[in-house]
Amino acid sequence: MKGIILAGGTGSRLMPLTKVTNKHLLPVYNEPMIYYPLKSIVASGIKDIMIVSGRGHAGHFLNLLGSGKEFGVRISYEVQEEAGGIAEALGLARSFADEDKIAVILGDNIYEDNSQIAKAVKEFDQQKFNADGKTVGGAKILLKEVPDPERFGVAELRDGKVISIEEKPKQPKSNYCVTGFYCYDNQVFEIIKNLKPSHRGELEITDVNNLYVKQGSMTYKMIKGEWTDAGTFDSLLKASNLAAKINLARNKGI
Ligand code: G1P
Repeated sequence: MKGIILAGGTGSRLMPLTKVTNKHLLPVYNEPMIYYPLKSIVASGIKDIMIVSGRGHAGHFLNLLGSGKEFGVRISYEVQEEAGGIAEALGLARSFADEDKIAVILGDNIYEDNSQIAKAVKEFDQQKFNADGKTVGGAKILLKEVPDPERFGVAELRDGKVISIEEKPKQPKSNYCVTGFYCYDNQVFEIIKNLKPSHRGELEITDVNNLYVKQGSMTYKMIKGEWTDAGTFDSLLKASNLAAKINLARNKGI
């Protein structure tokens, strides 16, 4: 499997912090934000990783992470010319993914327990469905119960299955937030190719996920441990506090 980290976007909700740098390079406690999702992917055993970032700061990611040697992986880079949404950024990784399955993480997502990601990757690698007369691997998402679901993609569950996902709903059907880690089979690139932009003019990852839900090949994992993204001032502060907690636990050998 291959790993893809999505680190584009304008970070408009964090202005002026993002005026001259990219959101994913901002400090989260003691490391640049992107270290956390990178380490999450590395912990799952994936060795081949692509970072998709915006045009203005692509070189900074290369300066920071280089070939990936320091992390024991190989890192490639791709540039998203304009901010056209998470799914559009993912579509740029098609030739990198080749015919492989992929694990995708948003560059501002911080998971307390990386073993949850490793488990999800393992489970996904083994899952198989029959759909449209062929065997497919489908997709897998990680869910977390949150107090403010209206800020996220929200999954509606029934009988152990995801039956729908809504992006930032005004009246969420559950408290289960779709966090920013996704596993997909190679169908994802054809799905993205045929996607129409949403009302905000972007290709939405939630639309991709709903196509797998419709196909009956979407699974989920309810994750243990804390999770946050870091796209707003409040969540960036939460991310730093979580990162401090992770570091403290690591230093104590917990
Ligand atoms: C994105 C996704 C959303 C997901 C969230 C997790 O939202 O669109 O479904 O719940 O990431 O971080 P964004 O942060 O781009 O608003």
